[in-house]
Amino acid sequence: MTPTSTLTDRYVETILRRLPDRQRPDIEKELRASIADAVDDRLDAGGDPAEAELAVLTELGDPERLAAGYADRPLQLIGPALYLDYVRLLTTLLATVVPAVAAAVGLVRGLQGAPALRVIGDPLEAALTAGVHIVFWTTLVFAIIERTAAPRRTSARSWTPAALPEPPSRRARYGELITQTVLLVLFTTFVLLSPVVSTETDAAGDPIGMLSPWLWETGIVYLFIALVVASLGFSFAKYYVRWSVPLAVAGSLVLIACAIALIWLAANGRVLNPAFVEAAGWPPSVPRWIATGLVVTSVGTLIHTVTVLVNGASGGVGTFTVQLARTLGAEVTGICSTRNAELVHSIGAHHVIDYTREDVTRGSGRFDVVIDLAGNHRLSEFRRVLTPKGVYVSSSSAGGVVLGPLPRLIAAAATSPFLSQRLRGLASRRSTEDLSLLAGLVAEGKVTPVIERTYPLNETADAIRLREAEHARGKIVLTA
Ligand SMILES: NC(=O)c1ccc[n+]([C@@H]2O[C@H](COP(=O)([O-])OP(=O)(O)OC[C@H]3O[C@@H](n4cnc5c(N)ncnc54)[C@H](OP(=O)(O)O)[C@@H]3O)[C@@H](O)[C@H]2O)c1
Repeated sequence: MTPTSTLTDRYVETILRRLPDRQRPDIEKELRASIADAVDDRLDAGGDPAEAELAVLTELGDPERLAAGYADRPLQLIGPALYLDYVRLLTTLLATVVPAVAAAVGLVRGLQGAPALRVIGDPLEAALTAGVHIVFWTTLVFAIIERTAAPRRTSARSWTPAALPEPPSRRARYGELITQTVLLVLFTTFVLLSPVVSTETDAAGDPIGMLSPWLWETGIVYLFIALVVASLGFSFAKYYVRWSVPLAVAGSLVLIACAIALIWLAANGRVLNPAFVEAAGWPPSVPRWIATGLVVTSVGTLIHTVTVLVNGASGGVGTFTVQLARTLGAEVTGICSTRNAELVHSIGAHHVIDYTREDVTRGSGRFDVVIDLAGNHRLSEFRRVLTPKGVYVSSSSAGGVVLGPLPRLIAAAATSPFLSQRLRGLASRRSTEDLSLLAGLVAEGKVTPVIERTYPLNETADAIRLREAEHARGKIVLTA
């Protein structure tokens, strides 16, 4: 059998993600075996391994369609042949038509000078009605096609393995994406409704918008919203599409443009409407505070936060590493088992990956620093999740029976000089200076040693048993 490569892994995972849990193990086994057999056949015929794999996956076709075929949906309303197109069309319509209807109704109500409650309530009602209609009519049309048309065998869109998405890595990242989307919708709604929905009115009873009319007169407001939407688009692309340098650079440029625009507007007093400030009776210091807040927030988005991955975050070394990285201002992701996830969160990790459920090296997350305390992945796998100038530090004794971690450390030392990434091994050294620094952080409450259990010295054997059998949480302490 030919060992599966990353491409096959991604292909298989794309299928498995769309199947019920109970079906996954059997189908994974079956799929991998048939892919490996087909690749072997091509190799026997004298092909190149990478080309053989590519050809086999291309022949198998769109994994989403294959998954729809695998999923047993008895008495289905929409069968496997159409299910995927049905879901794609439905989600596209819901994601585009519903917000457009809501925005249009909101704009019309605003222009009609309707009361604030109707300007907000009517779009929501219209969005709900549009959503129900879209679901009903799309389902009806597909159900009719399902029962009348001959089943299709070919995919509506051509597919190649290059289209395989990176498996979404961290649920936390998905949560961030959703939060970002909700904030964007709220922000855009607030900005667009600002001229027509206001707490203040002029002598004629017309609303006085909170934001400067100059933003509309010059069209800057639409440019700014376009930049913010583009920045969200890049966040989605980084999550669903393969991470690449051009994508990251383009995303950063858009983010920088947003921040610079906001700083300029705030610094030049172009954000708030002076007439609104006057009508609301705000003291002159309020606009200044708002402008300062906007500048600080914008500068904050420009400052790059170092992302650190701690593999083995719940152990004796990992619990200190997580807290130290957090204290130094990094965005920390810790890897541990399910039972220790809560602990790793509680000591300051922003994100936690459960290694029994998710393989970080197959995800789309990228880290500036990887601190490997578990040694359960090959160096090349960790290099995939490192940023181009990232640093990998191995401090794990895990490895083969004879040489232990030595091959990994030698590989790191030998390849590092030829790479933009830096790969290092780290051996502990006793240093009074380091210990004093650590003691100071503990005294300040910035670092708290995690101690699973304390044993008297004569129970040392039990302490070692606990450590070896169950991976102690944090440290085990022996007292005299
Ligand atoms: N270089 C040096 O001088 C030096 C000094 C001290 C220690 N070390 C080495 O550093 C490593 C960590 O030491 P430690 O005392 O922290 O060990 P430990 O307390 O046993 O912790 C091991 C950690 O690895 C995690 N882990 C286990 N299997 C994993 C997997 N498949 N994927 C990801 N994480 C996994 C454990 O999580 P769960 O408990 O949640 O399963 C736990 O967080 C060891 O290899 C040790 O030899 C090196």
